[in-house]
Amino acid sequence: MTVRTLAPAMYDKVTTAVARDTGDRRTAALWIHAAGLARHAREHGRLPAGAQPPGPDGLRKSLEDLASCHPALAPLTDPQVLPVWDQPLGDAAWEILDDFWARHPVLEAEHRVDGYALGDTYQMLSEDARKGRALCQTPPWIARLLLRLSLEPAMEEWGPADVRMIDPACGTGHIAVAAFHRARVPPARGRRRSPAGDGHQAVERALATVAGVDLDPYAAALTAYRLLASCASILRISLDHVPGSWPVNVAAADSLLDGDEPLLRAGAYHACVANPPYITPRDAGVRDRVRAAYPQVAVGKYSLALPFTALMLECLAAPGGYVAQLTANAFMKREFGRRYVTEFLPRFDARWIIDTSGAYIPGHGTPTCILVHRARPPVGDTVTVIRGNRGEPRVPEDPARGLVWSAIEDAVDSRLARDRFQEGLERFQRGEVTSSE
Ligand SMILES: C[S@@+](CC[C@H](N)C(=O)[O-])C[C@H]1O[C@@H](n2cnc3c(N)ncnc32)[C@H](O)[C@@H]1O
Repeated sequence: MTVRTLAPAMYDKVTTAVARDTGDRRTAALWIHAAGLARHAREHGRLPAGAQPPGPDGLRKSLEDLASCHPALAPLTDPQVLPVWDQPLGDAAWEILDDFWARHPVLEAEHRVDGYALGDTYQMLSEDARKGRALCQTPPWIARLLLRLSLEPAMEEWGPADVRMIDPACGTGHIAVAAFHRARVPPARGRRRSPAGDGHQAVERALATVAGVDLDPYAAALTAYRLLASCASILRISLDHVPGSWPVNVAAADSLLDGDEPLLRAGAYHACVANPPYITPRDAGVRDRVRAAYPQVAVGKYSLALPFTALMLECLAAPGGYVAQLTANAFMKREFGRRYVTEFLPRFDARWIIDTSGAYIPGHGTPTCILVHRARPPVGDTVTVIRGNRGEPRVPEDPARGLVWSAIEDAVDSRLARDRFQEGLERFQRGEVTSSE
């Protein structure tokens, strides 16, 4: 079953109808989304079976059931995370949202339940998350490339059991969930095939590999749910059978300013992967605090993407750790990027600079690029650059197969193949491998 998000007007219509009861669109969006989440958990059998009262009481019961499945889901009953109960719904508004989910369920193919569409739906419903915090989900094909250039080499270098990755602006978890799947099935080396990764141990290990932090506590709770739902789906168990001791490394925090959040400890990650917010903070107080905390990059009307790069390269990454990001390319053209380009970035080992401004990335109106660095001073004299010549001639039917994106993937493939060949040849010449290996 493929779940497609609907036209924006459909989400707008249901939010407007429910907001007549709640009085504001933010709470209406949360009511609607929480009901979709409960339906997702129930219909995929991820919740323990049990009688369900109708209406909002049923939603409250489902959220309590979910919260009791694993400590990481406890925020779903926290009124600070889901502030809906003070603005109750009447029967008519409940019927509208219930009917919406009955007609457009966010269900997935049984072999892979990971709440992907739930994440997209939150973006579509919550204007507050979109406009206020720059929530813009990372399409899976972008996440795949970012992980290929960061988590995968990190897994080879540090070993799948020890490697740790974080997305410090994880949203509803598209990158984090993709990293979980990648960590579960480590990349094949040479002719050796990777293990299937669907045993309890491999699933727990993959869960321990991944961390995510987001300012939006409901988005962070969704990331936790999606990681646990992925585990439950792979193991074919309900959520309450996922051991409560399994690590779900997800937190709601301000990654740029919260020095006390344990997941943001310095030097803990071999791969930092993000699609950070590109906006400038609207609140002058926050703008100044970020400027004071990141004077090396937060200059003038800076974009938050710059302090996020500094956070990843100077703080979160272990020495030599990989930092991959899809980011706005405005820093290349605007004054606020001058110091970043001339003084900050040259201190690090740039590996890839990929112009993605010509690619069609749904939801990303801003021209983008992919930057991959290692958290160490520059090594060698090569940076791989993929330059864009032209944009897509028309909006591709399948953005993952757009002409520009396909050309980028082909260029990455041939460069990686060449590097691997070169590496093998050098090892052979040093006598580290024989011709039969
Ligand atoms: C472009 S979205 C990230 C998408 C996500 N990485 C994914 O996998 O789809 C940017 C996210 O940054 C979060 N954000 C904005 N400022 C933040 C901050 N100071 N600390 C942590 N997260 C922040 C927003 O709430 C939003 O979810």
